[in-house]
Amino acid sequence: MTSAGTTVVHARAPGKVNVFLKVGAVMEDGYHDLATAYQAVSLFEEVRASPASDFSVEFSGSIDTSGLAVGGTNLVIKAARALARKAGYRGGVHLEVEKNVPIAGGMGGGSADAAATLLACDALWGTNASKDELLAIATTLGADVPFSFTGGTAIGTGRGDQLSPALAKGKFQWVLALADFGMSTPGVYHELDRHRDRHAQDIFPAEHQPSVDANVLQALRAGDPHMLADVLHNDLQAPALHLVPGLGKVLQLGEENGALAGILSGSGPTVAFLVADADSALELQVALSASRLRVVRATGPVHGARLIND
Ligand code: C5P
Repeated sequence: MTSAGTTVVHARAPGKVNVFLKVGAVMEDGYHDLATAYQAVSLFEEVRASPASDFSVEFSGSIDTSGLAVGGTNLVIKAARALARKAGYRGGVHLEVEKNVPIAGGMGGGSADAAATLLACDALWGTNASKDELLAIATTLGADVPFSFTGGTAIGTGRGDQLSPALAKGKFQWVLALADFGMSTPGVYHELDRHRDRHAQDIFPAEHQPSVDANVLQALRAGDPHMLADVLHNDLQAPALHLVPGLGKVLQLGEENGALAGILSGSGPTVAFLVADADSALELQVALSASRLRVVRATGPVHGARLIND
């Protein structure tokens, strides 16, 4: 907890894959009504918080972090400030964020940073916020932040921030094809809206109160990757492929090389392949890497944000 006499609090939070994502109508706040099944996967963001009089952040990690904003617009600074405001804490914090989840990749990396920051600052400042209080702040920071906080497997409704746990047996094996570019989440939602407008609401209506397919819940409960592969679904996939047609080739390549199924992760551009077991995961990783894709393996579900004793 201390290095060279300085208190450092270390928190970790996971990225996610949406195994099912149905996008409903636009709500009054401009967000879309969602029904999603999240699974937290074993790509983790590491946040180390140390005392400071002001708020600052620096990034490092297994991915290129050079383009990230380090000012007040960054979500971790917003998270820390939001907790300080709520708790009446007058000091600041220096945050070191080690990133392993792709940036703007559709895997909730920024949300994981925010979730880990809330936990780390709470411990560093001794604010003793309850889990519900931290979750309430998480909800104000972004639709996926509450899920990164709780982790595991969960159903998200509303903006995606109204969570209820889902039973999942065992571990699912994922192979993730990472892109060397990011995609704008609002841009992909906007493309979906445009598509629905172009093709008239009566042909592609936005469902009111969408829900998660019962077969998804059953496949998760059974821990059966074959069953889950059959029902993976993401409404954001078609608009993302429309914006970046090359992603279709990635999906095809994975399915030709042993994946049970592939799906765009969130709003992309990461493509998540579900495989039957660890051997198939390795084989697929080798095959995709040979096609010059950057590939990582992950398992899910994993725990949500937690403190780490170094
Ligand atoms: O909450 P978050 O910052 O992650 O959302 C990013 C953007 O994604 C929103 O500004 C919105 O354009 C879109 N979004 C949406 N409906 C949701 C979640 C996200 O339209 N339920």
